[in-house]
Amino acid sequence: MAFDVAELFQKRHGENFTLHNEYLNPQLARVLKTLGFDRFYVRGEGCYLYDDKGERYLDFLAGFGVYALGRSHPAVKKALHDAIDLDLPNMVQLDCALLPGVLAEQLVGRAHEGLRRVYFCNSGTEATEAAIKFARRATGRPRVLFCDHAFHGLTTGSLALNGGKEFKEGFGPLLPGASEIPFGDAAALERELAAGDVAAFVVEPIQGKGVNVADDAYWQSVQALCRKHGALFVSDEVQVGMGRTGKFFAHEHYGIQPDIVTLSKALSGGFIPVGAVLCTDKVYMSVYSSLERAMVHSTTFGRNQLAMVAGLATLDVFDEEKIVERARQTGEAFDAALAALVERYEMLHAIRGKGLIIGLVFGKPESRGLRMRWNALEAMRTALFSQMVVVPLFHRHRILTQVAADNMNVIKLLPPLIAGQEEVDYFVGALDDVLHDAHHGSGLFREFGTTMAKSALRRGGQKPVMAPA
Ligand SMILES: Cc1ncc(COP(=O)(O)O)c(C=O)c1O
Repeated sequence: MAFDVAELFQKRHGENFTLHNEYLNPQLARVLKTLGFDRFYVRGEGCYLYDDKGERYLDFLAGFGVYALGRSHPAVKKALHDAIDLDLPNMVQLDCALLPGVLAEQLVGRAHEGLRRVYFCNSGTEATEAAIKFARRATGRPRVLFCDHAFHGLTTGSLALNGGKEFKEGFGPLLPGASEIPFGDAAALERELAAGDVAAFVVEPIQGKGVNVADDAYWQSVQALCRKHGALFVSDEVQVGMGRTGKFFAHEHYGIQPDIVTLSKALSGGFIPVGAVLCTDKVYMSVYSSLERAMVHSTTFGRNQLAMVAGLATLDVFDEEKIVERARQTGEAFDAALAALVERYEMLHAIRGKGLIIGLVFGKPESRGLRMRWNALEAMRTALFSQMVVVPLFHRHRILTQVAADNMNVIKLLPPLIAGQEEVDYFVGALDDVLHDAHHGSGLFREFGTTMAKSALRRGGQKPVMAPA
C-alpha cells in the first residue's frame, strides 16, 4: 500500500517523544518534558498550533522566525501543489533554470542598488558560510569580525562567529582569524579593522540573542569604517530580514548599504528550506571569476524548484497582503500595549527591538520584598525569572515563547508577521496575568517550582533550556 501520512499520524499517535528519546536527541525530549512543553501537535494554521487534544496555541516562536506568513498559508500551499503537479524539471544541475533567475530578480529588485547578484543555498548557516568565503575571496584577506552575543549558525565556519561560548565548547579548533568585538562599539571595530587584514565584519542589524539594538550612529560608523579599511560589511538578516522589523531589509532602518546580505527563514514560506546571499557584482564576480570557477561554490539542493516556488509565492503574498506594513503597525501596537505593563510591573524593565522582534527585558525590582524574592530566584540559577514567565505563558495561556539567550533575563517574541490586534491583546492580557502573580503572592513561584520539581534537570543542576536561535 502507498505511503499515507495521515494514516501514519493515526497509527503512531503519541509516540513522538518515545521515538525522539530512542532515535534522536534524548536531551531535547528531556528538556521539553521538564518544562511541560511535551505536546503532540497535529496542525498549524496562521498564528496557531493545535495539539491532539484540540488545544490551540498562539505561536510566538514562529519556528524561530520562519513563519512570517503564519503556518499553512493557502497561497504558498497552492503554488507548491501546482509546482509538483507540473512535474517541473528539478535540479538538472547542468542547466540555468528559470525560477532561480526570477527569484533572484525579485530579491535584487527589493534591495539597495549595490546588491546585484544572488547565491542560493538551503539554510541560514550555509548563507553565512558563503558570505565568509565570498568576503575572503573578494578581499584576499583572512580575518572575520563578529560581535559578542552573535548568532550566525552552527556549522563550523559560522560557529566560529558565534558570540556564545556554550555553543562552541568541544567543537574546536574553529576557523582561524575570527575575532569577537562588543556589539555597538565602533571604536573596537576600528581597532580591529586598522590591522588591514579583515575580510568582513559579519553582524545582525538586531541581535537575536538578547534582542540587542544599536543606535543609528553606530551603523553609520560601521559602514564608514568598513569602507575606509577595505573590509566588507555583511548584514545577517536571516532572522530579522524580510519584513520582521517593519522594513523589508532590517538595515534599511539605518540608511546603510551593506556589501553582502544573508536571508533564509521567512523566504521558505514555512515550507521549503532555502538560504540566499545577496551581494555586489564585484564580490560575486571575484568568486566566479573564470570558466574554471563556474561551480567553485555551490550546493546540490540550492536553487531547487520547490524552494524557488516557495520564495516567489512568499514574496507575492508579501506584496498582496502588505506584510511589511502590517508588521510595522502590529509592532507599534505591541510597543504601546507593553509600555503600559512596564509602567505597572517593577520586574519588567523595558521593551526593545523593532517591529515584530520584541525583547521583554526583566530586571531586579525596587521594592524590598520583591527584591528578596528576585534574589532568591536568581541565586538558584541566573536568569531563572524569564524561564519562570515562559512556562506559565505556555501552561496557563497556551502561548509559545522563548528565553532570548542563556543567562539573560529577556524573553524574545517572534510573532508571525500576519499577527494583528487580536494576538496583541491576547498576549498582553496573558503577560499581565503572569506578571501580576509574579509581583503579588507566591502562586507563580509555587507553580514553577512544581513544574521544575518534577524535573531530573533540576536535580542535575543543569540549565532548563538552551536558547538555540
Ligand atoms: C541571525 C541568524 N543567522 C543565521 C542563523 C542560522 O540559520 P540556520 O538555523 O538556518 O542555519 C540563524 C538561526 O537562527 C540566525 O538567527
